[in-house]
Amino acid sequence: MASKNHNHNHIDDENHINGDANTHIPKKPKISSFITESEIQSEFSHHDPAVARINNGSFGCCPASIIAAQQKWQIKFLRQPDHFYFNELKKGILRSRTIIKDLVNAEHVDEISLVDNATTAAAIVLQQTAWFFKEGKFEKGDVAVMLHYAYGAVKKSIEAYVTRSGGTALERGKAEGRKVRLAVIDHVTSMPCVVIPIKELVQICREEGVDQVFVDAAHAIGCTDVNMKEIGADYYTSNLHKWFFCPPSIAFLYCRKSPKSPDLHHPVVSHEYGNGLAIESAWIGTRDYSAQLVVPSVLEFVNRFEGGIEGIKKRNHDTIVEMGEMLAKAWGTHLGCPRHMCASMIMVGLPACLGISNESDTLKLRTHLRDNFGIEVPMYYRAPKEGEVGAITGYARISHQVYNKDNDYYKFRDAVNQLVGNKFTCTLLSK
Ligand SMILES: Cc1ncc(COP(=O)(O)O)c(C=O)c1O
Repeated sequence: MASKNHNHNHIDDENHINGDANTHIPKKPKISSFITESEIQSEFSHHDPAVARINNGSFGCCPASIIAAQQKWQIKFLRQPDHFYFNELKKGILRSRTIIKDLVNAEHVDEISLVDNATTAAAIVLQQTAWFFKEGKFEKGDVAVMLHYAYGAVKKSIEAYVTRSGGTALERGKAEGRKVRLAVIDHVTSMPCVVIPIKELVQICREEGVDQVFVDAAHAIGCTDVNMKEIGADYYTSNLHKWFFCPPSIAFLYCRKSPKSPDLHHPVVSHEYGNGLAIESAWIGTRDYSAQLVVPSVLEFVNRFEGGIEGIKKRNHDTIVEMGEMLAKAWGTHLGCPRHMCASMIMVGLPACLGISNESDTLKLRTHLRDNFGIEVPMYYRAPKEGEVGAITGYARISHQVYNKDNDYYKFRDAVNQLVGNKFTCTLLSK
């Protein structure tokens, strides 16, 4: 464990500000009427009107009122940086962490750190694994497991931190009687997207004696149920810039408090090294922290909608299922998973006659739809099984967020129908 850094010149001690009036969390406002359709349109009027943006899953969205709130924080810093640094920053971050702690039902605010994104959170957890190999707490050959559909960047991170420091894959490790040290499990897989029964998988890991479970839930908050006490993972990360209306970029990393205090550190080391991950992460050098400071404003924003974030989540789910079924019907295809396994995104089969025959075709078709039809939608290639004829090999991942209109999906339906009508196939697209 790293030694405590008592250099309090940099940022106040957390306990000191715990009792401060500035940590006051906004209560649900008593709003007589909910946000109107035209107010929603105006909140997202910066979106390119020429594009049917049915890909909230990749980069999320940020309403105009939150962009304005963020700019206020940025100006506050630029107006008097020293005052901001000594008196405002840490309190503001603690306020955001406290809101998140309540939203995700964590036991204690110390369990919640704010970092840039899920990629950074993964680096924090996996770097610890690398140190455990280096320091002999894990033995060379011990195992790390992940889902086949783990996010590509996270797989690379496992390669960079775990494999390189001596970790191995399940089959080999098991054959050699090794311990499973770490399981990395997605909550909502990216591509193809499905909601994983995370509570059950964490339970299975516990029964199998896995040391640590890290849940990559990059999509989860604002999209599916996120409850730390129920899920019971050791580490859990979710972006807030995907489905929780924060500007890029902010994620929380939950680290369960346990007697075996986890020696986690931010990969960017600064003055706060050794003061606990939450405090380390609250100062990783001079930069723009405004995305981490707007969480109270975002909470106010979501509470303008009927049912708050829960209501948004439910309506997004219901509408994406409806739109997915509409598209599958129009194209004579099917959904990629049962409705209960999707949240605010769903996979829809594309007509087989489009001739999607590899991953590069999906990318080319996606670009074609963007450039020629003003449609933004990611796609997935599924290789046909042996002997399968006329199989659906391409699936679109469609998202629904509050700014979407049914017309966005009709535009997609009509574009694909037009391509099919024109006997288009992916072989016509240049490399
Ligand atoms: C499952 C999963 N993990 C990790 C990430 C990485 O998120 P970020 O780029 O915000 O770090 C994503 C992004 O889409 C994702 O879907």
